[in-house]
Amino acid sequence: MIFSQTKKLNNGVEIPMLGLGVFLMPEQGVTLEAVRYALRVGYRHLDTASIYENEGEVGEGIKQSGVLREEIFLTTKLWNDDMRKGRAEAAFEESLKRLGTDYVDLYLLHWPVAGKFIESWKVLESLYKQKRIRAIGVSNFHKHHMEALLKEAEIVPAVNQIERHPLLSQKELIEYCTHQGIAVEAYSPLGSTGAPILSEETVVELARKYDRTPAQIVLKWNIEQGVIVIPKSTHKERILSNGQLDFMLRGEDIKMLDALNENKRIMADPENFNF
Ligand SMILES: NC(=O)c1ccc[n+]([C@@H]2O[C@H](COP(=O)([O-])OP(=O)(O)OC[C@H]3O[C@@H](n4cnc5c(N)ncnc54)[C@H](OP(=O)(O)O)[C@@H]3O)[C@@H](O)[C@H]2O)c1
Repeated sequence: MIFSQTKKLNNGVEIPMLGLGVFLMPEQGVTLEAVRYALRVGYRHLDTASIYENEGEVGEGIKQSGVLREEIFLTTKLWNDDMRKGRAEAAFEESLKRLGTDYVDLYLLHWPVAGKFIESWKVLESLYKQKRIRAIGVSNFHKHHMEALLKEAEIVPAVNQIERHPLLSQKELIEYCTHQGIAVEAYSPLGSTGAPILSEETVVELARKYDRTPAQIVLKWNIEQGVIVIPKSTHKERILSNGQLDFMLRGEDIKMLDALNENKRIMADPENFNF
C-alpha cells in the first residue's frame, strides 16, 4: 500500500505528502516507465521541471497509466533562463503542451533569480487567477527571498520546495515558512545521486531497529514533521518500497535524525548559484 496522506495547502488544495521526483532521468523511456509504474502502484503526485527535459515522458506516462488526470497532483517549474528572458507565460504554455494537459496542480519558480523573481511571480499570480494552475509556489527560497517576495505578492506562495535531508534539516526556514502558512517540500531527501544519506550510521541503525529500509526512515522523518517528500528512483522495487511508509518513528528517533544536521548542502546554494 502506497502512502496516501495529504496536506491542505493555504488555498485549500490537497497535496499528497509523498510524490515521485523525476530529476536526472536522462535516458529515453526511463521517466515514462518510472511514472507509469509509480502511478500503477498508487503514487498520485509527480514532480518535474522544464529543465529536466522529461515533461513529455511524464505526460505520456500519465496517459499510459490509465489513472485519471484529476486524480494526479502534477508539479512543474519555471526555469531560470525563462525568468531572465521574461518569458514566464510562454514557458508555462510550453510545459503544458509537453505534459499533454491543460492545467498543472503546482507551478514553482525554480530558483530565486535576482531581479526577476518578483515579476515572474506576478505572471504566476495571473495564471493562477485564470485557473490554469491550482496552486503556485517557489523553490530554493531562503527567508530573505521570501520576505522580498511577500512584500510585493498578492498571493502567498503555497509551497517552498527546498533541499532537505538529515545533514541539512533547515529547521529555521521550515519554522518561518510554516508560520507564513507555506508548506515545505523536501527535495533530494536521500541526498540525490547515489543517495549518500542512506549510509549515515544513525540512519542505518534506525533502519535495523524498525526493520525498514534506510530510505523509508528518512522519508518518514520528513512526513512526521509535516514536510512533503519527493524521492526519485528509476528502480521499480525502490519506487515501491519508498512509498511503503505505514509505520511511525518514535520522537526520540526523530530527534536522533535531527541531531545529524551539519547545514551541509549537496546541491547548489540558493545564495550563490551560477545557472
Ligand atoms: N527544486 C529543485 O531545485 C530540485 C533540485 C533537486 C531535486 N528536485 C526534485 O526532488 C526530487 C528528488 O531529489 P533527487 O532526485 O535530487 O534525489 P533523491 O531523491 O534524494 O535521491 C535519488 C537517488 O537515490 C537513489 N535511490 C532512490 N531510492 C532509493 C532506495 N530506496 N535505496 C537506495 N537508493 C535509492 C536513486 O537511485 P535510482 O534512481 O538508481 O534508484 C538516486 O540515485 C528530484 O527528482 C526532483 O523532482 C528539485
